Amino acid sequence: MAHEENKAFLRRVPLFSSLTEAQLEGVAAGSARRSYPRGRTIVAEGEASQSMYILLAGRAKVQRSDSEGKEVILAVIGSGEFFGEMSLIDDAPRSASVITLETCEFMAVGKDTFKTILMQSPELCMAVMRGLVRRLREADMKIETLALLDVYGRVARVLLDFSELVNGERVVRNKLPRQEIAKMIGASREMVSRVMKGLEIDGYIVPMAGGQLVLREKLSTYIS
Ligand code: CMP
Repeated sequence: MAHEENKAFLRRVPLFSSLTEAQLEGVAAGSARRSYPRGRTIVAEGEASQSMYILLAGRAKVQRSDSEGKEVILAVIGSGEFFGEMSLIDDAPRSASVITLETCEFMAVGKDTFKTILMQSPELCMAVMRGLVRRLREADMKIETLALLDVYGRVARVLLDFSELVNGERVVRNKLPRQEIAKMIGASREMVSRVMKGLEIDGYIVPMAGGQLVLREKLSTYIS
């Protein structure tokens, strides 16, 4: 029963859309569905790896920390995305920690199963490569942001990255705590608060009920 359910979930995952029925069978047999509450570490930086994961629902952050416990958020990943594949591919320790930002549902695919299916399916290899390339592009963008933009520009870039178009307006729907923004751009929480206040007073952003933010078009002048 669990096996059939796993197969049904995996069939809906874009990463596995190219697999044949028999290949999907094999992946389902080596996978398990898991659900975790907010704040749970799913993979820990530096540890050995046993599985890769597909996020079926919820959001999680990818972060690294130094020996003093200072943290930097590398990315926030959402439903349909995968993680934990890097250490399976190069057999090195986990490159970062992945921590749930809300209740999350995952499919954990075992190391051997993942490696076997990669060898069997060039289409899956291409899909994984596309994911890695997209991440590299995003990392390039982040390096540019950190190297070339001042703190207003960095905050503007994060807000624009996390926004979506709603009825013609750019809106940050999910509450984005100042502390989390600070960890993404290498600034203090206090500095981010000051910048956000400034952006609000000058009419670049408009706070709405429930922590949502409407971004005015002129906000993009900070990143151009
Ligand atoms: P792995 O190294 O196995 O464990 C940590 C995971 O975090 C890693 O695999 C990737 O899946 C993911 N990860 C690492 N760096 C980034 C990044 N810059 N953007 C998105 N995900 C990342």
